[in-house]
Amino acid sequence: MQTVMITGGAGFIGANLIRFLLESETEVEIVNLDKLTYSGNLGNLTEVMEHPRHCFVKGDIGDRKLLRELFAKHRIAGILNLAAESHVDRSIDDAAVFVQTNVLGTQALLAEAMAAKVERFLQVSTDEVYGSLGAEGKFSEDTPLSPNSPYSASKAGADLLVQACHHTYGLNTVITRCSNNYGPYQFPEKMIPLMINNARQGLPLPVYGDGMQVRDWIHVLDHCRAIWAAFCRGRSGQVYNIGGDSERTNLEVVRTILRILGQPESLISHVRDRLGHDRRYAIDASKMERELDWRPAVDFETGLAETVNWYREHADWLDQVVSGDYQNYYRRMYEGR
Ligand code: NAD
Ligand code: TYD
Repeated sequence: MQTVMITGGAGFIGANLIRFLLESETEVEIVNLDKLTYSGNLGNLTEVMEHPRHCFVKGDIGDRKLLRELFAKHRIAGILNLAAESHVDRSIDDAAVFVQTNVLGTQALLAEAMAAKVERFLQVSTDEVYGSLGAEGKFSEDTPLSPNSPYSASKAGADLLVQACHHTYGLNTVITRCSNNYGPYQFPEKMIPLMINNARQGLPLPVYGDGMQVRDWIHVLDHCRAIWAAFCRGRSGQVYNIGGDSERTNLEVVRTILRILGQPESLISHVRDRLGHDRRYAIDASKMERELDWRPAVDFETGLAETVNWYREHADWLDQVVSGDYQNYYRRMYEGR
């Protein structure tokens, strides 16, 4: 049995990763450390909360005393760090907590991981650290870091700290940089679940600017498989790009969602653009394919239709998530836009 710590395991990708690992890796035990911020939700883990190989701990990755206790109590062989503040619009609104968690939290986790002699540290990062592309080209692992938003700047800061720990202290590290995920359990501040939630209620779909920005969409389970491959077999000190090979404009995605739900395109509402909005992301994931024999398996249109259906079938989950503070958030971000 091997014990790993997954941070941010009550969030969108973390919860999918934990479900995936409990099902496919029978020799892996998981300590799930999550602060349960607005985006962390134990409702994402309902069926696996009591699983014998899953141990949930509510706490902050920046809490060094707690980390020391956890490393003393469990024999943690490796860490997969997913805990983060993850939404660009919130980072534009206020960057402080992004620096706190993404930069300082990662630094605390690195320091305690090294003190406890943890054998492997995988940092889940994002393609957004590379900045924005023009009409042509893709991000490779050698593309210089050029983050544009406070979110991506804080993620780039974390990446550099991870690389510094590898270079300076010989920590065994891997960094994965993935493109935009979609799938079950995504908090509806991100574009795809937000548009599904609005469309199902016949509310306007707020498309920023002209809607011709391009993202390279990947199904969350393809990302989870890639993270695990990189954790198990990635070379220490390396960066691996992960992408879905599915570039779409935001308008294309929104129109597809409306079509699946049988709603009219007249619901599309062009609103004021995001400040500093990155125009295009696209990932060259050939290193993952070459070295780790990984490639995305989910076709985007099929995956999106399944995802829309998942939200339709889990209306209770969605209703619970958008109750309470979500309404205040939505008003603050979208009123007057
Ligand atoms: P999310 O916001 O859904 O989940 C983040 C989780 O981290 C939440 O459960 C939250 O409670 C927890 N958390 C936040 N601060 C914490 C802290 N200080 N200590 C412990 N837990 C804390 O985000 P997500 O979309 O699941 O993203 C997970 C990771 O993947 C992030 O590092 C993000 O940067 C990265 N990533 C996301 C995408 C994407 O498309 N969503 C793409 C590439 C990379
Ligand atoms: P998002 O899901 O926030 O991911 P990211 O900014 O990390 O790529 O947004 C995806 C794209 O959708 C991005 O170009 C911004 C756009 N967008 C909208 O047009 N309207 C919205 O309400 C949201 C949340 C995003």
